[in-house]
Amino acid sequence: MRLGDRVCIVTGGASGIGRGIAARFRAEGARVVVADLDAAGAEVAARELGGLAVPTDVRDADAADRLVRTTLEACGRVDVLVNSAGIGRLGSALETTPEAWGEVLAVNLTGTFLVSRRAAQEMVAARRGKIINIASVAGLVGYAGRVAYCVSKAGVVMLTKAMALDCAPYGVQVNAICPGVVRTPMTEAALADPAALGEKIARIPLGRLGRPEDIAAAAVYLASPDADFVTGHALVVDGGMSVD
Ligand SMILES: NC(=O)c1ccc[n+]([C@@H]2O[C@H](COP(=O)([O-])OP(=O)(O)OC[C@H]3O[C@@H](n4cnc5c(N)ncnc54)[C@H](O)[C@@H]3O)[C@@H](O)[C@H]2O)c1
Repeated sequence: MRLGDRVCIVTGGASGIGRGIAARFRAEGARVVVADLDAAGAEVAARELGGLAVPTDVRDADAADRLVRTTLEACGRVDVLVNSAGIGRLGSALETTPEAWGEVLAVNLTGTFLVSRRAAQEMVAARRGKIINIASVAGLVGYAGRVAYCVSKAGVVMLTKAMALDCAPYGVQVNAICPGVVRTPMTEAALADPAALGEKIARIPLGRLGRPEDIAAAAVYLASPDADFVTGHALVVDGGMSVD
């Protein structure tokens, strides 16, 4: 039980990586709050985990405030925040519309900022807390045909570093995880074609796709006391994909 009794909010906790993290946190003894735009999905996940569902649109500062206040009322504190809510959109720099650009940045970057900012206010007052942002290897290296996504995730990596410095004097740590390709509803369509799947796996030195459990294991480490001296770090969990 590495997270015994910790109160952990997981945005995007209704699906994929967020869902995997919520489940593993629960298994490690945490009290889990599932925050997701998909209210029904959040409800199902929370019921399965014995946690609390709080329908939340991370793009909305008032919703972020409601999420944190509801958590405080129900659980008394916020120990850990995982920002996993995100959207993927394809599109090169030449074809991405301003609307598509704004949509991706609003969820992936501004959403991460808004919820982190509000949770950090409580953590700083409590002089402890851990924020874990789910960025991506696409925030570390460029990929063709996904400009808004890459930029949003690079922004999340820098948000992690800058916010880690702002929060360090108060004993609050801010870290990121950069997953490679993980099979989730977000990537399902892209991985459905066997040729595309084979091509993706060929680029992963460890020879397989990531699983939500792989990312959850890294999140447990960063959320646990084992990572008390780690902050501003972007932990790559990609089977070696971004090494060369
Ligand atoms: N799957 C991958 O290969 C991969 C790789 C690297 C990084 N990531 C990142 O991991 C995170 C989770 O992705 P996933 O693969 O589990 O995707 P997913 O689509 O399975 O889950 C994303 C969740 O975020 C929620 N969400 C979307 N917009 C929201 C909003 N405005 N407010 C609140 N919730 C919202 C969705 O409802 C969904 O439940 C994302 O940030 C994604 O960019 C995924």
